[in-house]
Amino acid sequence: MNIEFRQAILPRELRSLTRFDRKVFSPADAFPPSYWKECEAWWMLLNGRKTGCCAFQRDIEFLEDIAPDGRNPAREGFLYIATTGLLPEYQGRNLGALLKAWEIAYARHHGFRRIVTNTRRRNKRMIELNKAFGFQIVRTTPRYYAEPVDATVVMELRLSQRK
Ligand SMILES: CC(C)(COP(=O)(O)OP(=O)(O)OC[C@H]1O[C@@H](n2cnc3c(N)ncnc32)[C@H](O)[C@@H]1OP(=O)(O)O)[C@@H](O)C(=O)NCCC(=O)NCCS
Repeated sequence: MNIEFRQAILPRELRSLTRFDRKVFSPADAFPPSYWKECEAWWMLLNGRKTGCCAFQRDIEFLEDIAPDGRNPAREGFLYIATTGLLPEYQGRNLGALLKAWEIAYARHHGFRRIVTNTRRRNKRMIELNKAFGFQIVRTTPRYYAEPVDATVVMELRLSQRK
């Protein structure tokens, strides 16, 4: 089994990212192309195949669920994980744990002191996976998602080193 993490090249791989996203998430949860351009996206390749993808925003805090202007402010040392996903046929095989471990290694390697992320309240798998890696729930904001309406669970992991 050969695993590789490779940064997606934007805008060249924008279509590949949006196509992948639509296979993993429902249309309501998939990112618009404009949002991918704001992110640093990474592929997880398994034997050369794109099986997983995650996207970061560096030095960004996730607050858009409660901020009056609905925006995420810049905050040095914070890494916002905007998405983590595996193709359906690769889910449930612990590859999510591998991707999560890599995300945390990335954050530590780059000197971030906190990781923030959010997911649907009904997404028990993601919430449990985050908890298994030490993430804690910081708040739950109702009606953040549409189709179906759901709350967002905001989670964070504090890392020891400082940026
Ligand atoms: C979420 C995701 C990344 C998890 O990766 P995965 O490899 O499928 O995860 P696993 O099946 O190995 O489960 C991870 C952990 O979640 C927990 N879990 C799994 N299914 C669960 C369930 N139905 N209820 C509660 N916890 C569950 C377990 O603790 C499991 O750890 P274990 O293997 O030690 O028991 C993956 O399923 C995925 O890409 N889903 C679609 C996209 C998505 O929802 N992304 C998150 C929103 S950003």
